[in-house]
Amino acid sequence: MNNAPIGVYDSGFGGLSVWRELYRHLPHESLLYLGDGKNCPYGGRAREEIESFAVAAVERLVAEGVKMVVVGCNTATTAAIAHLRDRWPEMPIVGLEPAVKPACMTTQKRRIAVLATEHSLRSEMFLSTAQRYAEDVEVIKVVGEGFVDIVERGMEATDEAREAVRRVVEPLLAKDIDKIVLGCTHYPFLTPHVESVVRGCGIDVIDSGEAVARRVAWLLERYDMASDGSEGAQYRFMSFADEEYRMRLESRARAIMAAEQGIR
Ligand code: DGL
Repeated sequence: MNNAPIGVYDSGFGGLSVWRELYRHLPHESLLYLGDGKNCPYGGRAREEIESFAVAAVERLVAEGVKMVVVGCNTATTAAIAHLRDRWPEMPIVGLEPAVKPACMTTQKRRIAVLATEHSLRSEMFLSTAQRYAEDVEVIKVVGEGFVDIVERGMEATDEAREAVRRVVEPLLAKDIDKIVLGCTHYPFLTPHVESVVRGCGIDVIDSGEAVARRVAWLLERYDMASDGSEGAQYRFMSFADEEYRMRLESRARAIMAAEQGIR
């Protein structure tokens, strides 16, 4: 038993799509969210640079006493997860990978699309996963141009967002795919737009959020680290950017909580 918080880290707001799944599936766990903000977006940066941001973030979360870290960012995972695990061998560190495996295992058409950042799509990790699971599956790789910026500005519910998604997703309809993998944690905030473009075309939209929550639940059990719930779950938010950014993160998360409570 361990009542310390789980640290969740992303370049900015995107990891809140993972945070939402942890909040939903692990109601007794305290969560400490760190949205870098200062260095976002990561997607077009060099691997070494992203790795150094990830190290600084995990150092900060460890200093705050977390019991586990979820790297709620595909880009930081591809750039840094091996290094983070070497550096903190005692602590479970969960990474995010585009859901290429489940998409490959369920595609009927043997053609899928993966939407992710430039860095993730050209990373070793992505290429080896695609090679392993997509031997006879064609994987179409597409950067969600403008998506991260829209989510960072909180503009998901706008025509600008709808148009940006249409521009990226509509050309995929001609490619005879039946799965679209959202391989960046910012993108699930745009899922309603993606779904409205593909409606009626027999295409599933998949992200990794729920699978990560299941993995975290398994690790908590396996290492006897789950919270006993006696102190009530606490939710805290930090950023390397300014206080205004941190407050926007917190209020976005509070809105997610309110929406989730409506569902519960
Ligand atoms: N949310 C991130 C990901 O999952 C990165 C977005 C960015 O900073 O470019 O890839």
